[in-house]
Amino acid sequence: MDSIVVTGGNRLNGTIPISGAKNATLPLMIASLLTSESLILENVPHLADVNSLTRILGNHGVDYRVEGKRRQGNGCDGRTIHFFADEIVDTRAPYELVSTMRASFWVIGPLLARMGKACVSLPGGCAIGTRPVDLFIESLEAMGTNIKVEAGYVIADAPNGLQGCTYTFPKVSVGATHVALMAATLANGTTVLRNAAREPEVKDLADCLIGMGAKITGAGTSTITIEGVDKLHGYRHRVLPDRIETGTYAMAVAMTGGDVLLKGAQPDLLQDALDVLVDAGVTIEPTNEGIRVARNGHALKPVDVVTDPFPGFPTDLQAQFMALMTMADGVSNIKETIFENRFMHVQELARFGAKIKLDGQNAEVTGVDKLTGAQVMATDLRASVSLVIAGLVAEGKTTVNRVYHLDRGFERLEEKLSACGAQIERVSH
Ligand code: UD1
Repeated sequence: MDSIVVTGGNRLNGTIPISGAKNATLPLMIASLLTSESLILENVPHLADVNSLTRILGNHGVDYRVEGKRRQGNGCDGRTIHFFADEIVDTRAPYELVSTMRASFWVIGPLLARMGKACVSLPGGCAIGTRPVDLFIESLEAMGTNIKVEAGYVIADAPNGLQGCTYTFPKVSVGATHVALMAATLANGTTVLRNAAREPEVKDLADCLIGMGAKITGAGTSTITIEGVDKLHGYRHRVLPDRIETGTYAMAVAMTGGDVLLKGAQPDLLQDALDVLVDAGVTIEPTNEGIRVARNGHALKPVDVVTDPFPGFPTDLQAQFMALMTMADGVSNIKETIFENRFMHVQELARFGAKIKLDGQNAEVTGVDKLTGAQVMATDLRASVSLVIAGLVAEGKTTVNRVYHLDRGFERLEEKLSACGAQIERVSH
């Protein structure tokens, strides 16, 4: 199993290319199930989760082809992958495949829409809370699906096709919004989704579906209206830049000090997090090429943060921000409102000498003068990168074990950071 070894103390200077968004790529790949023509996705990041989903889609009959290198690349382009689902040969998504990644459960939407049935294992994914699927079930039932849960599988059946409906999500869910949106594209009649997730990845999926012939308005707001069509066709779509990767590297630079261009990043995708960094004393400057992040000499100021659905502060940046605040000049309070068990990194950050007090969903972080390198363990995707951020300033050597969590969501992390001066390497055991 690989580890990441970081020796802290170097400032970051240079350019970091931002990859395509993992959380947009996954639903976009799943949308390929909705058409018998080819869906071509550009700027697909090289990630373990993308590979896992390719296997899961393959089991339903989806073929794929990766385009070779092209001349016009700007240095931060991902791969271009063609997905063809001309025939769906299996509507069952087995436990062995789905258990590795929660998002694979989302195949239930397109399978139902195109085939009228699906049998999908209850999901796995990061251990950050119970993460139920009640909202998926409720919204699909509202579209006329019969659903039962048996032996760990959700068995769904819509013998007369999905029916348009008005459905109000009792709680904002990114995944349930993606699924209801995809399902409704091929339903009979009009579907109105209220209290829908407004995340940029939902808008990106809707833009791609519209390109495929779907009739959708309002994506990116909390009310999405979808007029069902008979079929969707092929399309070529470019995945939007990863706002979580952007925020993560912005926090890494804020932590170490230095001056870095996050190339290809889009500020509007994470304005709230950027504003928080400005409050912490970090220079954030949008440029034609991306976002420049700098901190030269100033101390980090403590800032209180509450995680919220978009456009609020993303839960996926909470761990990284907490790592940053361990070195702030004072006390900050961080409240997690999205997942009930997303403080697993606290005990690992404590190994560096961080001072964090937990009280339910609240963490009180008291800044310290220095962190000391330690042996730590990655517990989930975003938590693991917070340990790398701490390691970048910690005195001495930090070893982050269980790196497979990082590989699920961060493309070429060691390469991108070491190109800017970090001492970081991957060690295989
Ligand atoms: C997505 C992101 C993840 C991010 C999260 C919140 C992807 C691949 N993953 O996850 O990185 O942290 O959004 O921004 O895009 N819930 C229910 N019932 C349901 C579904 C969800 O109670 O049926 C709850 C969850 O337990 C959680 C909250 O709703 O407390 C939000 O979860 P959701 O937005 O669905 O997260 P994901 O789509 O799984």
